[in-house]
Amino acid sequence: MALDVARVLTADPDSLARTDIADHAVDALRHSGIREVILLGRRGLPQAAYTGPEFLALGQLPGIDIVVDPADLDDTVRAALSDPGTDPATRLKLTLAAEYASRARTGARKRIVFRFHVSPTSLSGKQQVDAVHLVRNELHETPDGLIAVPTAHAERLDATLVLRAVGYRGAPVPDVPFDPTAGVIPNEHGRVLDSAAAVIPGVYATGWIKRGPRGVIGTNRRDAEETVAAVVDDFLAGRLTPPRRDREALSALLTRRCPNLVDRDGWGLIDAAERANGAKTKRPRVKFIRLNEMVDTARRG
Ligand SMILES: Cc1cc2nc3c(=O)[nH]c(=O)nc-3n(C[C@H](O)[C@H](O)[C@H](O)COP(=O)(O)OP(=O)(O)OC[C@H]3O[C@@H](n4cnc5c(N)ncnc54)[C@H](O)[C@@H]3O)c2cc1C
Ligand SMILES: NC(=O)c1ccc[n+]([C@@H]2O[C@H](COP(=O)([O-])OP(=O)(O)OC[C@H]3O[C@@H](n4cnc5c(N)ncnc54)[C@H](OP(=O)(O)O)[C@@H]3O)[C@@H](O)[C@H]2O)c1
Repeated sequence: MALDVARVLTADPDSLARTDIADHAVDALRHSGIREVILLGRRGLPQAAYTGPEFLALGQLPGIDIVVDPADLDDTVRAALSDPGTDPATRLKLTLAAEYASRARTGARKRIVFRFHVSPTSLSGKQQVDAVHLVRNELHETPDGLIAVPTAHAERLDATLVLRAVGYRGAPVPDVPFDPTAGVIPNEHGRVLDSAAAVIPGVYATGWIKRGPRGVIGTNRRDAEETVAAVVDDFLAGRLTPPRRDREALSALLTRRCPNLVDRDGWGLIDAAERANGAKTKRPRVKFIRLNEMVDTARRG
């Protein structure tokens, strides 16, 4: 996500204005004066969370210099690059990093700078942030893998905006098993497991809560197909108990618990209204930015 943030912050506002980005966001970017975005990673280049294709796409952005410090291409990176056993995904990221590190600056007005082995320790500033204080890290091998350990080396980095992009973590749902270490609901192909690793009939998980906060919409689609197949199999095999109430009772329960409930038809109305608003200005859509606007539109059906 950090790469997406850097890309949007440095993008040409006129190009962005033709997308479905919210108008107030483009206005803010137009007046921001952002020239440099610095991405901080607590570990090294080989451990970076972005994918090779994402890193490659960043380097093809027009009018933006991508800056990688040659010092980050350290012995471990060189060893990984010359090791035939290095996995292709890591190899692509490191090869690209080496290419970016060797690129001459074009003098572009904007740049995205990668910094590795650093962690923020504090922010300073009066009305507004003016600096991030960093500590340099070393990597230590542990049973849980390579972890970043702070050293005594500190530095100050001038900054006027600080954004956090450190990933996500699943939260437990009452009365449903939860693995606090992995932050997921324990499951086997989507069938939820109890503490003895036995399937709990009729309870299923899909998406990030099933496999952890990784992957894109396509990954979730495959994930959902697997879970839905498990539901259908269990239904056909008679492993599911018959519903105790009918559909209307379920609908009433959901509406009681969630007064702003938007069903599929309601979502269709929101989608159609956003697209219609976009068509007026030759944009894919103009997104609603307030919850009440969405709920009102969905209710009009
Ligand atoms: C900032 C950001 C940008 C992204 N951009 C892209 C992109 O451009 N392309 C792409 O392919 N992927 C993108 N992703 C990844 C994609 O969003 C996720 O892979 C996907 O949304 C995960 O689907 P999910 O169903 O697991 O979770 P979600 O989409 O988060 O859905 C979970 C739902 O469960 C609801 N919920 C949570 N707890 C409860 C509860 N106790 N009771 C009832 N409901 C509950 C939540 O409100 C939410 O609606 C992005 C992710 C992030 C964070
Ligand atoms: N456009 C898209 O398709 C899109 C956009 C956004 C997200 N996504 C998907 O959504 C998933 C989540 O993406 P994400 O970028 O939010 O998370 P992520 O891929 O899990 O990356 C999180 C990053 O934050 C670092 N981090 C975690 N805790 C930290 C801490 N306390 N201090 C410093 N650094 C810390 C991690 O470093 P360590 O490795 O050291 O822990 C890692 O580099 C990904 O699978 C991504 O593909 C897709």
